[in-house]
Amino acid sequence: MNAPLRYTREELMSDPPYAERIERNGVRFHGGYDTDGTYLPPRSLHRAAAIDAWTRQLEAAGHPTSVVDTDAVKRSFVPNATQAKMLLSNDATGAMTRILTLVGVVEGFGNDGIKLIPVVDLAEHIVEPTDDTCLGHLFNGLLEAHGNDEAGTDGEVGHDQMWFAVRDAALADPPVTLDMFQELPIAPPPGYSGPASPAAEAISVGSMIGGMRDDVSPELQLLVRAMVQILVIELLAYHTFAWASDVLGDPSCSHDTAFARTTIDHIRADEDLHVGYLQCALAELATMTVRRTDGGTVRGADLVVAASRAALENQTGDRFDRVLAYRLAQVRTELEDHPDGARLTAEFDALADSPAEALA
Ligand SMILES: [Fe+2]
Ligand SMILES: [Fe+2]
Repeated sequence: MNAPLRYTREELMSDPPYAERIERNGVRFHGGYDTDGTYLPPRSLHRAAAIDAWTRQLEAAGHPTSVVDTDAVKRSFVPNATQAKMLLSNDATGAMTRILTLVGVVEGFGNDGIKLIPVVDLAEHIVEPTDDTCLGHLFNGLLEAHGNDEAGTDGEVGHDQMWFAVRDAALADPPVTLDMFQELPIAPPPGYSGPASPAAEAISVGSMIGGMRDDVSPELQLLVRAMVQILVIELLAYHTFAWASDVLGDPSCSHDTAFARTTIDHIRADEDLHVGYLQCALAELATMTVRRTDGGTVRGADLVVAASRAALENQTGDRFDRVLAYRLAQVRTELEDHPDGARLTAEFDALADSPAEALA
């Protein structure tokens, strides 16, 4: 039997029944296990089946079910897994601590970014009804659930703290200092109130609104832009997960491989829901008709294509280079102070995938 296509906010926010919760050092994580020991993401009692049902509805109508190809953001992680393992095996844990801290911090940014999205009255801008679609449930649980997944809720932590726990478990509670939250290559979204602060070159506002058309409501265009932007970040994150699971799941350089691997797998399962609903809602919009402010209409597909192009440029261009430069600078600084730094720097560079990813 197919799952329904219409849900209340409460239904989309409901946790499945857990047989067992997950905790570390007295901190409760979101999600849990069923009686068979299978991991169940938070707020997935109906959410997972709902996303599946909306996606199958699109498919049955002969439409594509995704708008950004996973391979569109095919980037290997720097430092690569071999380099990262080499650093950790030589007691150079500082740079890796910073890199994993940044991963957690950026997860938290996701929630602040989502909160910035203003509620849009879709019926005002879209000709077709959206009640039975994923798009129609964005402001009725889907975006809120996503934000909570990234940053946690009262009584249980989300992805940001889960990554910090992975870092602490795998690297045996490395010193984490306030400066690890400063001079970051990615700026926090407006409204963020945590300890993270950006480097001057990371403060680039306006990249989201470049190239917007003037005949369609800016709030609808901003919604589409934000959704594609977040989707691309989610797709890029899969590469981070694969890298982190390889490095921190290796007993030669990780103190708690089981916890690291398991927690990263849980985060990945949660992210599958994010990628699923964003792809689906955008693919739905691409089949619909959007009202222009002058009384005419435009294909939803045009908005989605423009937003996808902008997001891919934005995420794989400057921003990506800044993050790369940041990570290499952390490694360089650490090896400069390391007693065996010269040898390790040469070894690190010899393991680089491309000359641009070397230290020297
Ligand atoms: Fe996340
Ligand atoms: Fe996510």
